[in-house]
Amino acid sequence: MEYINVALGKGRLAEKGYEIFKKIGYDCSDFEKKSRKLVFENSEKGIRFILVKAQDVPIYVERGAADIGIVGKDTIMEEERDLYEILDLGFGKCKFSVAAPNSFQPEKMQGMLRVATKYPRVAQGYFMSKGRQIDVIKLNGSVELAPLVGLSDVIVDIVETGGTLKENGLEVIEDMYNVSARVVVNKVSFKTKNLKIKAIIEGIKEIIKEEA
Ligand code: PRP
Repeated sequence: MEYINVALGKGRLAEKGYEIFKKIGYDCSDFEKKSRKLVFENSEKGIRFILVKAQDVPIYVERGAADIGIVGKDTIMEEERDLYEILDLGFGKCKFSVAAPNSFQPEKMQGMLRVATKYPRVAQGYFMSKGRQIDVIKLNGSVELAPLVGLSDVIVDIVETGGTLKENGLEVIEDMYNVSARVVVNKVSFKTKNLKIKAIIEGIKEIIKEEA
């Protein structure tokens, strides 16, 4: 049986991503048991889910280790991988924003701005499009801390509820881009496994319509 391999990013989107597949008939009882496993399959349905770090979903899909991936637009923008972005799932909605401590003086935006972020490419691209040069400080997490201890002037990050910013005395000073969960597909699989992948995409489209 030809398997369809689906990469789900561990964390916020994995559960919701799996639920969508379950709704179109690709359930996998193993996935629903809490475990440390990373590969889950339903041999009858020919579906295999792999759990990877969210930032790694695009490379698994680009290289064909996964045919389909569920991943945030933020990660797609940062990774710039060669793949098809097929569908907006409409959940996992948040915004890319520039945020700064409440005490931030807007004049500072004029000089060379130090920007801490997990998304260096997105930050560079955004400020470059505005004709601004920045000093990017790439971090791997807890980005909100950087301006509080003088490592940066501002941060570029995704904001969902705004809770993390608020609790750390930061506020959004510019909205950048809207973000949500997307379905991405490997370019070769899209041709070689076309029938199955198309059926999955159509099924997901129906679910999105029903839930809209
Ligand atoms: C993201 C982001 C913020 C937070 C924003 O991190 O980097 O820290 O969520 O959400 P809020 O506006 O609802 O507070 P995430 O939780 O994905 O964890 P990570 O830092 O491990 O990537």
